[in-house]
Amino acid sequence: MIEELLPATVVAVEAYGHDEPANARLYPEEEALLVKAVPKRRREFAAVRSCARRAMEKLGVPPQPVLPGERGAPRWPAGLTGSMTHCDGYCAAALVRATDLASLGIDAEPDGPLPDGVLPAVALPAELDRLLRLGRDHPGTHWDRLLFSAKESVYKAWFPLTGQWLDFSEAHIEFAVGTAGPVPDSGRGERLSGTFRAELLVPGPSVGGRRLGGFEGRWTVRRGLVATAVAVPHG
Ligand SMILES: CC(C)(COP(=O)(O)OP(=O)(O)OC[C@H]1O[C@@H](n2cnc3c(N)ncnc32)[C@H](O)[C@@H]1OP(=O)(O)O)[C@@H](O)C(=O)NCCC(=O)NCCS
Repeated sequence: MIEELLPATVVAVEAYGHDEPANARLYPEEEALLVKAVPKRRREFAAVRSCARRAMEKLGVPPQPVLPGERGAPRWPAGLTGSMTHCDGYCAAALVRATDLASLGIDAEPDGPLPDGVLPAVALPAELDRLLRLGRDHPGTHWDRLLFSAKESVYKAWFPLTGQWLDFSEAHIEFAVGTAGPVPDSGRGERLSGTFRAELLVPGPSVGGRRLGGFEGRWTVRRGLVATAVAVPHG
């Protein structure tokens, strides 16, 4: 699912529910981070790292620990960049050679409405208006959750380029809709997917000597999940 949202140079490895490696091996330095972790965190941490190590192998890089760096951003082996996400029943890691992309961000969320009170905290007034219209045109889609996911992907792509916080109010997301065909047995008629543009409302990072005004992303809804991805090319 995630791979379809990213350029062909990106290697994405994902695992659904029971496919998740239950006892994925961890390195001692990763184990050390989990001393106080609840079982759910341990499971997700290990499963997504197993995906990341498979992606490293596919890129010809020996599997190695993935430790959190500044503000929790994953530290990748030299020459690679990437992003990880985990939620109930799903995890994914997407890696790419740093020569092929400047940065990337991925996010997956359960396909359901956001908890009460979250949308007003993450959406700009113009985004709320747009979500209302999208909800009228495509009522089966949880646009609030998609907006949240798109902003998470934006942050995960932004942070490695800047090392700085980006507030939910500092990027404006505009969705475009396409359909990726019918969903078998879903009872919901169509499987929606599309693109989005994240306009940065603060000065963007400089990539290839050019200051970025925004990021481009893709989104999809399927198998009980919403997923988004942002890829930042060089130059
Ligand atoms: C960090 C954050 C983006 C993680 O997203 P999430 O939906 O909660 O959780 P996910 O499972 O999808 O992603 C977790 C992974 O994100 C990655 N991550 C964490 N901090 C990160 C950062 N600063 N930069 C890039 N990736 C980061 C890690 O790989 C983490 O997995 P790990 O802890 O097992 O290593 C989120 O918790 C957060 O702090 N958001 C606030 C900032 C924001 O989104 N601003 C919106 C700008 S428009």
